Amino acid sequence: MVGLSELFSDVKARITREGSLPEHMTISLIGMAGIGKTTLAKKLLNDPFILSRFKKRVFVTIGPKYTLERVLSDILRQVKTTREVDDDKMIVLVGEEGKLAALKGLIIKGLEDCRYFVVLDDLWDIKLWYRELAELFIWRGDDSRVLLTTRIGDVASISADWGFNYRMRFMDNKESWDLFRRKVFGDQQESLPYELEKAGKKIAENCAGLPLTIVTVANIMSKVDKTTEYWTEVAGAQRHSVFLNAYCWPKTYTQVHVSYK
Ligand SMILES: Nc1ncnc2c1ncn2[C@@H]1O[C@H](COP(=O)(O)OP(=O)(O)OP(=O)(O)O)[C@@H](O)[C@H]1O
Ligand SMILES: [Mg+2]
Repeated sequence: MVGLSELFSDVKARITREGSLPEHMTISLIGMAGIGKTTLAKKLLNDPFILSRFKKRVFVTIGPKYTLERVLSDILRQVKTTREVDDDKMIVLVGEEGKLAALKGLIIKGLEDCRYFVVLDDLWDIKLWYRELAELFIWRGDDSRVLLTTRIGDVASISADWGFNYRMRFMDNKESWDLFRRKVFGDQQESLPYELEKAGKKIAENCAGLPLTIVTVANIMSKVDKTTEYWTEVAGAQRHSVFLNAYCWPKTYTQVHVSYK
């Protein structure tokens, strides 16, 4: 992950703080599509100190079109221990109606005796938390944590009631150039020709600090000639086709578009 090191350290400190109260349990990362919420959440999940501090770690992507059964099954798969191998048979026995309750019961049981860290990534529906998920993560004073990521301000009110909100920030020019350069040139350290670097910095700046745009534009630029002439041309025109193409990529387009609704 490039940059945002102070945000990473702040969130990590809050996740690993000892002696917490119920209202410290839930932490949210809020921000528009492509700003880096999932990237930061995954970096936290794989941080060595977090790995050692939480016995069970769960990462579940929710998204706008989820089914409760899929979300619960996904969580259960990650909290299950080998002694619970018969759970699947049990779920079949209780039939469709009892299935969701059975899944919830097994999750609560699976999290019972340990400190856990759960990431609920890309939560859109506040009701999903209040009606279905909150009851799984009961405060026991053992410093377990739930990290939510969301594009939606309303969803973040979960943490206003129960925890703490972090608003993601845009990348500054240095971070933007760092990310752009890495995506185009990999980890190669040699210095670039002055004019090419100057144009590259300007192109990165024109991405307005949004990592998704930087990555997409870098992807386009890594496939075209790395000549100072072409790069300077792209750098000089904010509405250059490279930027328009970056926004028109189907994935990019829907992500950015949805977040402005
Ligand atoms: N700090 C970073 N360092 C390197 N790459 C990053 C960083 N932040 C984001 N990216 C890249 O930018 C893209 C978008 O990031 P990410 O998926 O984390 O955004 P998001 O906020 O979760 O978006 P969404 O709301 O659509 O889920 C990804 O390709 C990711 O690899
Ligand atoms: Mg995401």
